[in-house]
Amino acid sequence: MSTSTPQVHQLFDAASSTYTYLVFDPTTLDAVIIDPVVEQLERDQTVIQAKGLKLCWALETHAHADHITSAGLLAEHFGVKTAAPEGCHIGTAAVQLVDGQMMPFGSFALKALHTPGHTAGSMCFYLSTPEASHVFTGDTLLINGCGRTDFQSGSAEAMYHSLTEILYKLPEHTTVWPGHDYHGRTHSSISHEMQFNIRTAGQNLEQFKTTMDNLNLPKPKRIDEAVPANLTSGMRHDAGGEATRANLYSVQKAANYAGDVSPELAWQWVQTGQAILVDVRSDAERAWVGFVPDAKALAWKQWPAMEVNPVFDVEIQALAKDGQKVVLLCRSGVRSIAAAQRATQLGVQAYNILEGFEGDPDAHAHRGLLGGWRKRGLPWRQN
Ligand SMILES: [Fe+2]
Repeated sequence: MSTSTPQVHQLFDAASSTYTYLVFDPTTLDAVIIDPVVEQLERDQTVIQAKGLKLCWALETHAHADHITSAGLLAEHFGVKTAAPEGCHIGTAAVQLVDGQMMPFGSFALKALHTPGHTAGSMCFYLSTPEASHVFTGDTLLINGCGRTDFQSGSAEAMYHSLTEILYKLPEHTTVWPGHDYHGRTHSSISHEMQFNIRTAGQNLEQFKTTMDNLNLPKPKRIDEAVPANLTSGMRHDAGGEATRANLYSVQKAANYAGDVSPELAWQWVQTGQAILVDVRSDAERAWVGFVPDAKALAWKQWPAMEVNPVFDVEIQALAKDGQKVVLLCRSGVRSIAAAQRATQLGVQAYNILEGFEGDPDAHAHRGLLGGWRKRGLPWRQN
């Protein structure tokens, strides 16, 4: 059991005034990212790399209306496990959080607290150790304020209950880390908010409801774009498209690599010894989602380095040294294109397998239903 105390690194997106948090165990360097913003993906990668962190989780406090999350990209490229509140209907999140659920990282764990009000599904994440406690409050509790309750299944009554009966019942010294601040303030405490928060201090439920009903806030600028995108963890699947699903045993030539093959044809080539199957997903993704038998595991990008796998070049050339074709498989057929392009530059006859292992998300943001290796009935196993 570690005696170290968890570290909180706060990051700010000026365009949306959003705070993103990296919370980590300084001993094991296992880390969690809370409410990542897609425009800040490179910044976040740089920080994670500089600190040598191993990112375990990408968490959402709710389906945001003001920015788009990078959780889907973090999962796609780096094998991070995504989690979001069950009541937010973010179907692409690998873990659907319920009240009280623990998310372990290193020697610590965050606890999900269901705090409806800003949205019906909204959650806060609480971290308690003997030395300190922290609560990441998303758009529920803000410094001297709270999230609006007038759209996206919001409820002033539920908000009042979440603030006064859930968050204000946490230990008074708990540090409050909000999802936004528009005045440059970084954090607060439960005791400070209980005493001074203008929305709740000395206000009963009826007074609170009157305040919330009369805020007359403008509609968030990006709501029409951000909410649908965030319901699929920020992924916009316009690559590929319907044409790629047309023919069962097809191959199409590509500009910068040998071509795109259907999963069926790729498997036929592998079985008849015409090609080597290379799974370019990360080790973590394979472990969580499933393995393809007979595939060589060679990640294109791998945690924690977050860069192209340094041994990719050498190993792909070694695999194809007898001039054999390689067929590359990733999660949804995006990363495998980048890997095929690189292999081609190295003189390898490299094909991209269309749709990847899981295919694109469907209209309800569920993966594995529209296509991909597994859906098409090709061999795979969980462990
Ligand atoms: Fe929000």
